[in-house]
Amino acid sequence: MSEGKIMKKIIIGNWKMNPRTLKEAEKLFSAVAKSISALKKTEVVICPPTLYIEKLNKISKKIMLGAQDAFYGDVGAFTGEVSGEMLYNVGARYVILGHSERRELGENNNDINKKIKASLAAGLRPILCVGESVRDPDHGYFNFVKTQLEECLAGVNQKLFSKIIIAYEPVWAISSTPNRKDATPADSEEMVIFIRKILSLKFGKEAATVKIIYGGSVNEKDAKDFLQNGGVDGLLAGRASLDAKKFMEIIKICEALNK
Ligand code: 13P
Repeated sequence: MSEGKIMKKIIIGNWKMNPRTLKEAEKLFSAVAKSISALKKTEVVICPPTLYIEKLNKISKKIMLGAQDAFYGDVGAFTGEVSGEMLYNVGARYVILGHSERRELGENNNDINKKIKASLAAGLRPILCVGESVRDPDHGYFNFVKTQLEECLAGVNQKLFSKIIIAYEPVWAISSTPNRKDATPADSEEMVIFIRKILSLKFGKEAATVKIIYGGSVNEKDAKDFLQNGGVDGLLAGRASLDAKKFMEIIKICEALNK
């Protein structure tokens, strides 16, 4: 984004709770890793289920690994939780935080805020997901996203802020949402401009360097349009990232555009 500086685009795959076995995970990961040797302008991140991270990290260093959540406590009596430091130590360098599927399970902006700060302290780059469930005719969804950003980023260290990636994921466009609708690159672009404005009011110049990406049923057919016309610095794919060919296609499209 900043003038004169080439910023790599980023393609992130969120595997969610897939695939069923480590063997399948290794197969899928290897298939993607094999075909991306020549990438220069695109960074690829895969966020598998936590317990696959360490194994996958040994297969290839060409793909960065991310987790799908990280707790805010660093160590201690937190049954069932995993800290950012633990994730970092097994090879994760990114972490998705505030995904709508976790918000649906009860996670709120305050929890996400604590997780962002703890993840940054652990050396992870948070991928903060924001996005409205519905687009109301009065455009209240802009305020909804503004509140998500303000509450999730409250008190975040100015110096570490540029490590955060913002993923705009309109919940109504995600493949698992019943009666989902396609979002358009114009929907994305409009929200990306809005998000950058909110970030610049809060963090000043640094906001220009923050990557803002789009997610919501992205596939090999619409990736080009979103990358060219959606105002974004990359994509966050769910379902399409579970198909090595489709995910590769998205990566190649990005690399070809990113001149
Ligand atoms: P889909 O690409 O399956 O809609 O998932 C998007 C998503 O939630 C990525 O985090």
